[in-house]
Amino acid sequence: MKILAIESSCDETAAAVVEDGRKVLSSVIASQVKEHILYGGVVPEIASRRHAEAISGVVSEALAQAQLTIDDVDAVAVTYAPGLIGALLVGVNYAKGLAYAANKPLVPVHHLRSHIAANYITHTQLEPPFLCLVVSGGHSHIIEVKGYNDFNIIGRTRDDAAGEAMDKAARAMGLDYPGGVNLDRVSKDGDPKSYKLPHPRVDGSEYDFSFSGLKTAAVNIIHNAKQKGETINVPDLGASYIEAVVNCLAENTEKAAHEFGYKKIVLAGGVSANSLLRARMSDICKRNSWELFMPELSLCGDNAAMVGAQGYYEYLAGNTASLSLNARASMPIDENDKFLSKKG
Ligand code: KG4
Ligand code: ZN
Repeated sequence: MKILAIESSCDETAAAVVEDGRKVLSSVIASQVKEHILYGGVVPEIASRRHAEAISGVVSEALAQAQLTIDDVDAVAVTYAPGLIGALLVGVNYAKGLAYAANKPLVPVHHLRSHIAANYITHTQLEPPFLCLVVSGGHSHIIEVKGYNDFNIIGRTRDDAAGEAMDKAARAMGLDYPGGVNLDRVSKDGDPKSYKLPHPRVDGSEYDFSFSGLKTAAVNIIHNAKQKGETINVPDLGASYIEAVVNCLAENTEKAAHEFGYKKIVLAGGVSANSLLRARMSDICKRNSWELFMPELSLCGDNAAMVGAQGYYEYLAGNTASLSLNARASMPIDENDKFLSKKG
């Protein structure tokens, strides 16, 4: 089964054709990063406009690269939640128009579910159940993936997401957007023990995260140094900061895997591209004789191939939508959308 997939939840306009949830026939990404650098973050209004301009060309290119026409695909999948509402609406409306015109089923896909599904492409034998650490710009979750459409959240962030915490600290250190990527790059040669940062714990849940205190501590170090006329060693502070964030993520994930009895551990989301997180989780899994699955780097960030992968499993579960489908800015991964109605 071939699915044409569309993604526009944040600042990448993407389209892909994926066969049987695992094989990528084409994948096209038009990134808006350069447009947002000037503002230090994603400007929602600009994102929506750029999606509207790019989407038609990106979808045509994905079909052309797969050497297919819309008549050759079996369904149209689209990210409909969560994300920037104006950005999501561009993809959702385009997908609705395409599904209607070509008389194809319309498959709505949850953005975090698709991040997890990126692993089905990289690891074609991977099947649930497994434990997944999902870390993106907007979310940080430890999730039991019991089935392709069956999720149980064990831990979550109480404030900033891991990616958001990386981006904000990076900005305070004078690095360009997207901060997490640049922080990773400049911190490679830094000394992670050079700056003392807190190890935040959350009362009441040993699996939840809290990153805002950590971020404030980094910002205070920068401000104090400025007031004293001292300079910050950005690679050292960056390395110390990444170490602190990764410690929290890795520690809670290891604890959850022991407690819930998982031996298959999966990483997902933009922050899963982080080199220290990948290395630390590899060490932990080796030490415990657990299997570790991570998306290839090109599939960690937002793309449409992962939407096509999850779309396949949503389609198999009967999760198609009518043309009344709407985008949603927020939606828990374990919710089965009540507004979703069958096609027809
Ligand atoms: O999943 P994603 O592409 O978009 C969302 O769904 O949010 O995640 C983007 C986040 C950003 O905060 C970005 O800075 C972070 O992932 N990120 C990284 C790295 N690559 C992307 N953070 C740390 N190290 C990286 N190498
Ligand atoms: Zn994402």
